[in-house]
Amino acid sequence: MNDVIAIDGPAASGKSSVARALAARLGWNFVNSGAVYRAFTWAVLQNGTDPADESAVEAVAGELEVTGGLEDGESWVAARGARLGPELDAPETNRAVSLVARVPVIRERAVEQLRGHAMSGPLVMEGRDIGTVVFPDAPWKFYIDASEEVRQSRRAAQGLVDQVAERDRVDSSRKTAPLAVADGAVVIDSSNLDINGVVAAILDHMRAGGFVAAGEAGA
Ligand code: C5P
Repeated sequence: MNDVIAIDGPAASGKSSVARALAARLGWNFVNSGAVYRAFTWAVLQNGTDPADESAVEAVAGELEVTGGLEDGESWVAARGARLGPELDAPETNRAVSLVARVPVIRERAVEQLRGHAMSGPLVMEGRDIGTVVFPDAPWKFYIDASEEVRQSRRAAQGLVDQVAERDRVDSSRKTAPLAVADGAVVIDSSNLDINGVVAAILDHMRAGGFVAAGEAGA
């Protein structure tokens, strides 16, 4: 397996922007694991299945055609053969995603797809259970947090309707792979830091732990 930096944290903590910037800096692949759960959610909604009905979601999970891959250093997701874009952040997806993501068989399929990305090269992956479940042996684990107020206003600034607190409640209390700080993860509060500030904090921790980025050797 290639090198993995696992970044977890609550909704709108800034982890996606941080993970993308960090991956670009290192020349590694960037994988947004939430997009996979969002793709499953979109497929559930298209199917006419009630996302709140756990057994109904479980019953259709095997039929949902959700695929993904890497292109130009970033992950993509598709459902029913078509790549998904803005539908992933639609208000109805935001409302339903935590309900769909609590279903174990959906998580099994997502985790399998996510682990596959590590075969292609070193990567930065962000989500809720990357350091705890997807890559528990990752050498670098971070948990990015921010106050609920800051997170809510970040979403509003993006023009997105998102029930951040409600998603966190469902994500943290579900039975399978709840949002949690992984053993050995470094917690970074991003409330008063911009993206570059968090990336710098991550790289400082890694360098202190002996990490030398390609191109930085001997520097
Ligand atoms: O990261 P993002 O906000 O796009 O994630 C959307 C939802 O997908 C989360 O609220 C959570 O329910 C689910 N998710 C998850 N495990 C992950 C990533 C996302 O359960 N690793």
